[in-house]
Amino acid sequence: MKQLSLDIQPSKQAMYLRISRAIRKAIKANHLQPDEQLPSARVLAEQLSVNRHTIMAAYQELIAEGWLESRQRKGYFVMSSLPVETSITTPSTQQAKNRFDWRLIRGAAKMPERASIGSEYNFSGGCPDIALFGFKSFGGYLSDTMNRPDIKALNYGNNGGFAPFIEQVEIYLRRVRSLTGKKIIAVNGSQEALFLLSQVLLQPGDKVAVEKLGYIPAWETFRNSGAELVGINQDASGIDPSHLEAMAKKHQLRLIYLTPLHQYPTTVTLPVSRRLQIYKIAAKYNIPIIEDDYDHEFHYRCQPLAPMAADDPSGLVIYLSTFSKIMFPGIRMGFIAADEALANALVRHRTLTNHKPNVVIQDAIARWMADGAFERQLRKLTRSYEKRRDHMVSLLIDLQNRGVELEYNVPDGGMAMWIKVTGDAALLAKQALARGVFIQSENEFHLDINDSENRYIRLGFAGMDEVRIGEGLSLIFGSSNI
Ligand SMILES: Cc1ncc(COP(=O)(O)O)c(C=O)c1O
Repeated sequence: MKQLSLDIQPSKQAMYLRISRAIRKAIKANHLQPDEQLPSARVLAEQLSVNRHTIMAAYQELIAEGWLESRQRKGYFVMSSLPVETSITTPSTQQAKNRFDWRLIRGAAKMPERASIGSEYNFSGGCPDIALFGFKSFGGYLSDTMNRPDIKALNYGNNGGFAPFIEQVEIYLRRVRSLTGKKIIAVNGSQEALFLLSQVLLQPGDKVAVEKLGYIPAWETFRNSGAELVGINQDASGIDPSHLEAMAKKHQLRLIYLTPLHQYPTTVTLPVSRRLQIYKIAAKYNIPIIEDDYDHEFHYRCQPLAPMAADDPSGLVIYLSTFSKIMFPGIRMGFIAADEALANALVRHRTLTNHKPNVVIQDAIARWMADGAFERQLRKLTRSYEKRRDHMVSLLIDLQNRGVELEYNVPDGGMAMWIKVTGDAALLAKQALARGVFIQSENEFHLDINDSENRYIRLGFAGMDEVRIGEGLSLIFGSSNI
């Protein structure tokens, strides 16, 4: 950073003294910090429209006083230990004296902490292996975006999404997910989609049906709009349609939130027969369904079931998905495919918080998809994740052969396994964390913790390579050589 803003007071003093006083003041106010470099005399002289020698004189004055030092061939720096330490007003001492008392109306949502990030071994089910992303290849598309900018699209307007991006998503959904006939809009990840939907569709007191085991970030977003969650039973095949119907009769349900392809967190695929039953209930009681298709890209055995949104004559299914898994969560890009009237309302509402989603990223993703690089990335990840899943399964079989009691189904797709253990699953997760291994246990996914058997753990297999999966499992189950 070459710029420096100085408060030079008018006075009869020589200019170099006024400048040195202003620099001293900046150091005392912590605007310039110990060891920080100052602009060169030439740059500061230009900025202040004074002679370079005036700046040199000011710097010399401060060197003599012990505030600055000159480092050979590097320039002028604030001293690492300052002459009168006590005279420095740090932001924290300022705050302590004069802390503003905020009236916080919101801002206390109970979102789960991403404790996984600091762990040596991360079995979080939602984490892709970001190191496998083709950054160099994507960088090429990003620079194309900059080299051949779409000037009109980069300006204000067209808040729904960048047309070539929407077109690529439309082609993908049509060809790979058999989904047509909906309006597609770009969002900053699924979380923004959930927030916008909650804002537009829910009001305080509304009831939202969710599975009893589910995705807390979605729940908290519904709750933030004042909605109450109604837990629906689930079994080995997923959500129980008869319980859903009983709840629809009892309450006026305003929304159903589902993850039918790989139920979050149990990974179960909702069978076609249940999908049809649920759809009928939704149509009969006028309840829209949010279908969160968060990790549909990864399937290992056969084509995954088409989403519920692909067979939606009433137009009540709101489909959402994300680029967080095929790319990385920091890309913050996703999309909603929904009935046009709803999509338009969502876009209009979004203008309250954001004029438009990031056009540069949409443009680069559109080029990446159109060029086939998306599909190449998908094939690469699918091959790796399938191997990792198989490796995890073989290690679990080893453990079982050694007498560790485990129960699980091998998932046909996705990024995680849901495993029944003996004993206290939450304790197992706690002990693993103490050994640097992040796993989540059943308790963390329940709407009502009293329903928890405390027997399951969720193990993501996508985020780490085979060696690290093995090391992590050894640490979890205390076996030294699996
Ligand atoms: C059920 C579910 N929905 C959505 C997402 C992705 O959210 P986003 O697109 O906001 O990164 C995840 C990621 O873990 C998820 O598990």
